[in-house]
Amino acid sequence: MRRPLVAGNWKMHGSRAENGALLEGLLSKVDTAKTDVLVCVPFVYLAEIAYQLRGKPIKVGAQSLCAEAQGAFTGEVSAAMLKDVGCEYVLVGHSERRSLYNEDDALVARKYMAAQSQGLIPVLCVGETLAQRDANQCFAVVETQLAAVIKAAGIASFANAVIAYEPVWAIGTGRTATPDQAQEVHAFIRQVLAKYDATLANAVRVLYGGSVKGANAAELFAMKDIDGGLVGGASLKADEFLKICAAAG
Ligand code: 13P
Repeated sequence: MRRPLVAGNWKMHGSRAENGALLEGLLSKVDTAKTDVLVCVPFVYLAEIAYQLRGKPIKVGAQSLCAEAQGAFTGEVSAAMLKDVGCEYVLVGHSERRSLYNEDDALVARKYMAAQSQGLIPVLCVGETLAQRDANQCFAVVETQLAAVIKAAGIASFANAVIAYEPVWAIGTGRTATPDQAQEVHAFIRQVLAKYDATLANAVRVLYGGSVKGANAAELFAMKDIDGGLVGGASLKADEFLKICAAAG
C-alpha cells in the first residue's frame, strides 16, 4: 500500500512571523497517523523551519536546488547544503522553474540526481500546458519529461522519489483537473514506469497538484492512482491545508 503524502509548496510567500503562525496552526491539529505531511519552503527559511520541526510530524523540503555539487555558482544552493540544514525532500522540475527559469528536461534530470546523491527525496513535477492538452499532447509531454529522468538516473531511482502530476493549466487558476482527468494521467505515468519495472511503477507515490483545496481534495485522492497532493495556494492557510491532509488519510 502506498502511504499518502500531502506536500505544501509555499512558493515565494511568507515571513518569519507568518511561517511561525502557520506552522503553529498546522502542528496543533495535524494528524499524520495515515498520511505524510510536508512543507516546501523558501530557501532562507529552511534551516529555521527544519530546526523548529525537529521531532515533529511535519517534514521539510526545498523548492529547488542546484544541479552542481559545489563551486562558483553564485546564488545557488546545493543538495548537500539542503541536507545539512535538515531538509528531506526537494521539488524538481516544477512548472514555474521550467517556464520562468528555462529549466529543461536535461537540467531537471541533473537536479533530480543531485538531490538523490545526498539522500534527499526528489519530488519530480511533470505536466502539460493548456495548449499541449488541447493539441492532444498531454501523454507525449509527460512521457518525455519522465523519460529524461529515467534515462539519466535509471528506473531504480524511483524507489527513492515521488512524482507530482501538475497540469500547468490547473496551477493557481482555480481550475482543477477533474478526478477522472487526473486519474487518467496518473495511470499513464505508472504505465510509462511499468515498461521498465512494474513493481516500482506500482509503489511510487504520484501526487496531484493544481488548485487542490479542502473542497475538492477528497474526490481527487479517492482515485486509484492518486496518492496525495502538491498544494500551492491552499497550503498557506492552516485550516485549509489541514482539511486537505485529512482528506488524504
Ligand atoms: P496551486 O495549488 O496554487 O494551484 O499550486 C499548485 C502548485 O504549483 C503546487 O506546486
